[in-house]
Amino acid sequence: MLTLGIETSCDETAAAVVVDGRRIRSNVIASQVPLHRKYGGVVPEIASRRHLELVLPVVAEALEQAEATLVDLGLVAVTVGPGLVGALLVGVSAAKAIAFARGLPLAGVNHLRGHVYANFLQAEVPKFPFVCLVVSGGHTDLIYLGGPGEWEVLGRSRDDAAGEAFDKVARILGLGYPGGPQVEALAHAGDSERIALPRAWLEAGSLDFSFSGLKTAVLQHWRRSPDRAADLAAGFQSAVVDVLVRKTMTAAESRGVSGIALAGGVASNRALREAMAAEAATRGLRVYYPPPELCTDNAAMIAAAGYHAFQRGERAGLDLGAYADLPW
Ligand code: KG4
Ligand code: ZN
Repeated sequence: MLTLGIETSCDETAAAVVVDGRRIRSNVIASQVPLHRKYGGVVPEIASRRHLELVLPVVAEALEQAEATLVDLGLVAVTVGPGLVGALLVGVSAAKAIAFARGLPLAGVNHLRGHVYANFLQAEVPKFPFVCLVVSGGHTDLIYLGGPGEWEVLGRSRDDAAGEAFDKVARILGLGYPGGPQVEALAHAGDSERIALPRAWLEAGSLDFSFSGLKTAVLQHWRRSPDRAADLAAGFQSAVVDVLVRKTMTAAESRGVSGIALAGGVASNRALREAMAAEAATRGLRVYYPPPELCTDNAAMIAAAGYHAFQRGERAGLDLGAYADLPW
């Protein structure tokens, strides 16, 4: 069955066609990054207007690349939140119109669950139960997946999300937006051991995260020695990675799972992927992560998550809404 996925929650207008929730036929992403760059972040109103211009051409392109037409589709899946409401509404309206016009079923997808399902677009997929670390621009969540559709939040950030911390540190160091890839590139030129930065472990046993103290420490060091940006970037990245890896291992062991999955934009960070894989190997755990282009926002993951929800019997009506905040 072919699923058309549509994603417009933030600054990417994306559409994809996926076969049986597993195989990608097309995955089109029109990035608005250049449009928002001069503001140093996403401007919601500009994002909504641009989504409106792009959504139908992007859907048409995804169908064309998949060598499919609307007649071939079996399901339309769309992100309903969390995200920018005005931006989400563009995708939701387009999906509803297509579903109504073709008499197709509709699936409303939680963006975060979409990130997790990027792991199901691989040759080897995680086996339930597993623990997933979802690290994006807005979230740092440790999730236990007991079975299909069974989600439990084990921990989350109490302040900045991991991606947000990368973006803020990029701004402090005078790098561009989005910051994650630029901090990662600069960190390669630095030594993570030279500047000691704090790691917030929080109360014993807590699986929550906190990154705002680390960000402030980076700012203070940078004011004192702005010539050491590369060491600071490396020190910051390694502090974030240390905490993410250790808490994910604790979560996996406390739940007795044998698999760990990574998801979200920060999961494309090489230092994180390598450290997670190395630590997991010493504990006999299996690590899954999507290729970098499926870690950041895309519509293939939305199609995959929508397909699996549909298989479990979930159906959305034409009264489907958009939600800035949406719990797991
Ligand atoms: O999942 P995503 O594309 O969008 C959201 O749902 O938020 O994540 C975007 C976040 C941004 O904060 C970006 O700086 C971060 O992911 N990111 C990275 C890397 N690539 C993207 N952070 C660290 N290292 C990277 N290579
Ligand atoms: Zn995302």
